[in-house]
Amino acid sequence: MKKRRNIAAGNWKMNLTYKEGRLLARKIVDGTGRSDVTVILGVPAIHLKAMESILGGVSNFKTAAQNCHHEEKGAYTGELSAAQLKSVGTDCVILGHSERREYFNEDAELLAKKVDIVLKHGMEPIFCCGEKLDIREKGTHVELVSKQVKDALFHLTDEQFRKVVIAYEPVWAIGTGKTASPAQAQDMHKAIRDLIREKYGEETANLTSILYGGSVKPANAEEIFSQPDVDGGLVGGASLKAGDFTKIIKAF
Ligand code: 13P
Repeated sequence: MKKRRNIAAGNWKMNLTYKEGRLLARKIVDGTGRSDVTVILGVPAIHLKAMESILGGVSNFKTAAQNCHHEEKGAYTGELSAAQLKSVGTDCVILGHSERREYFNEDAELLAKKVDIVLKHGMEPIFCCGEKLDIREKGTHVELVSKQVKDALFHLTDEQFRKVVIAYEPVWAIGTGKTASPAQAQDMHKAIRDLIREKYGEETANLTSILYGGSVKPANAEEIFSQPDVDGGLVGGASLKAGDFTKIIKAF
């Protein structure tokens, strides 16, 4: 039997003012209520504190920051530390999103440090991986994604690894309207789970939630989420509309 959590995670990216964010979160909570699905809202940092009270009463809701600095504290103007994020009740931190890899040059070495500090401060990393179109066309996508996962995560102990959520987001499917087919998602998710099994064993592999991201919407969520190794989604555009996101939450 599947023991891992089903997760619908939204990534708001750099969208919504303070007022708009609170409104959207309230609508999502009201439209969903308590459910077996873990709902994670990946919000810009300005919203995190307010989310604590909006989501606080509903135990299946969690908050995520979208990034975090890899050092404890200090002279890093404009950055936020893990301790600061934790201090406003943040539950998870999205790390290694393809936009951060692309525009902010985040590499495996840096991401491994970020994963460590997020875990140290008692939050769950949502670790993103995924290939660009040229790699998919060359057919080396499993190799590349396996390397992304190994290089940033496989230094963790088994106990630490169990706190990590993985999000497979093929870069060619992000914000493009092109979704990986359910079979393409399943193949990659299975490859990731096999890799985890090889390193950490059967139980950890079975406990690790692996989310799919890339143009998830109400029309395709159910089919994607029904794949045996797909445990939910990391949703960008459709997470900004309360109606669409609540439909996605209900698609399990
Ligand atoms: P879209 O759902 O807008 O394609 O974005 C996916 C994503 O990047 C989530 O992190």
